[in-house]
Amino acid sequence: MMRILAISGSLRAASANSRLVEALGLVAPPGVEVAIYAGLGDLPHFNPDLDGDAPPAAVLELRRQIGLCDGLVICSPEYAYGVAGTMKNALDWLVASLEFAGTPVALINASPFSEFAQPQMRETLTVMSGEVVDAASLTIPLQGGKMTAAEVAADPEMSARLRAALEALVDHARKALTSSRV
Ligand SMILES: Cc1cc2nc3c(=O)[nH]c(=O)nc-3n(C[C@H](O)[C@H](O)[C@H](O)COP(=O)(O)O)c2cc1C
Repeated sequence: MMRILAISGSLRAASANSRLVEALGLVAPPGVEVAIYAGLGDLPHFNPDLDGDAPPAAVLELRRQIGLCDGLVICSPEYAYGVAGTMKNALDWLVASLEFAGTPVALINASPFSEFAQPQMRETLTVMSGEVVDAASLTIPLQGGKMTAAEVAADPEMSARLRAALEALVDHARKALTSSRV
């Protein structure tokens, strides 16, 4: 079983990005488990002074979940031409952690209008030694919509695209696992 961790960068109750994250769990192909990270709002503001011998419990839990996954999906909104601050905050907590390096990442976007957040996140993830998987990164336009995760999963085109993204991410993760064992 391959384990994918999916993070929505939005704390909004009616978040389109959170609906995409939930839909991923509904469309996952056999052999792929999608766990949803729900602790974004509990993370303290990044402060290296807190990251000593006893980092905050919420940070340890984020790192534990990253360490357990074979691949990561990030669905984050763009605010003011940048990555949502809460999402960037989570990435900052992962910079110096051993768990993240080498993790394959899919960037899935709920808005075709956000041109800045994805390239910025790509820069950050790359400098963190993550691997953005292009074949698993895509835009599913949901902004302003009222679709539930079940409706997204029931939409033939959206569900096919999300499933293909998961397959591409898992495929990349499997290849990385195989080559690291050689
Ligand atoms: C204060 C604010 C600033 C925003 N700035 C941008 C922006 O720069 N670019 C963009 O494409 N969308 C921007 N948006 C729109 C959000 O990215 C969009 O509503 C997105 O769907 C929010 O994600 P969510 O539905 O997952 O919460 C902004 C929204 C707000 C409230």
